[in-house]
Amino acid sequence: MTQAPDMWNSAYDNDTAPWIIGEPQPAILALERAGRIRGRILDPGAGAGEHTIALTAAGYDIRGVDLSPSAVAYARRNATAKGVPGARFEVADMVALADSPDNPLGTFDTIVDSALFHVFSDDEARTAYVRALHRLCEPGGCVHILALSDAEPGFGPRIGADLLRDSFAGPGWELEDLRPDHYYGRVTEANADQLGDLTVDATGKVKVVAWLARIRRTG
Ligand SMILES: C[S@@+](CC[C@H](N)C(=O)[O-])C[C@H]1O[C@@H](n2cnc3c(N)ncnc32)[C@H](O)[C@@H]1O
Repeated sequence: MTQAPDMWNSAYDNDTAPWIIGEPQPAILALERAGRIRGRILDPGAGAGEHTIALTAAGYDIRGVDLSPSAVAYARRNATAKGVPGARFEVADMVALADSPDNPLGTFDTIVDSALFHVFSDDEARTAYVRALHRLCEPGGCVHILALSDAEPGFGPRIGADLLRDSFAGPGWELEDLRPDHYYGRVTEANADQLGDLTVDATGKVKVVAWLARIRRTG
């Protein structure tokens, strides 16, 4: 079962989302510099839209989708403010897309998941999400997942590497790479009590450990 959008809407409507840092994640920009992003691109759980905005501005064919109408409204405002009004966003539930009769999004050569996979804490939603990724990713295409890691203290939902390995162990996938990386968040009322010894930098950002996985759809 997917989570209702209300909780996510409230994070955007009240500006309490710890993941809104006003810029793309460096790990995603590094993927682009490494030539790992190509063709038609999907940004599932696009949130404030930083990755869709940056990649649209760089000339990529990318679409950002989010379960939360407030996130999509935020991302559209953000794109306009950043001078990229052509960045495309729409409301879509990635979990529901696993088994819906129609697939209104089409298929993609590259899917760039920044901090969505780790939010699916129940097995049913997570396996449905992986099925949706398989449906939406072209054979031979790639899914990149940047997910918060439980290897060190951090905030928010965090996962072990085995969850990524196990989730993509089935037929139709090959886990090509899985390595430690970082995700940047900010301090808000939503995570202030989870920070412990984490360092807040001069710009208010907090760097936490994350996994970066590259998964190929093989069939
Ligand atoms: C932790 S935020 C990450 C946002 C952004 N990708 C980033 O890294 O800043 C997770 C986002 O996924 C969205 N989300 C949660 N469940 C979803 C689902 N089933 N389908 C699509 N988006 C979903 C939330 O609304 C939220 O915007």
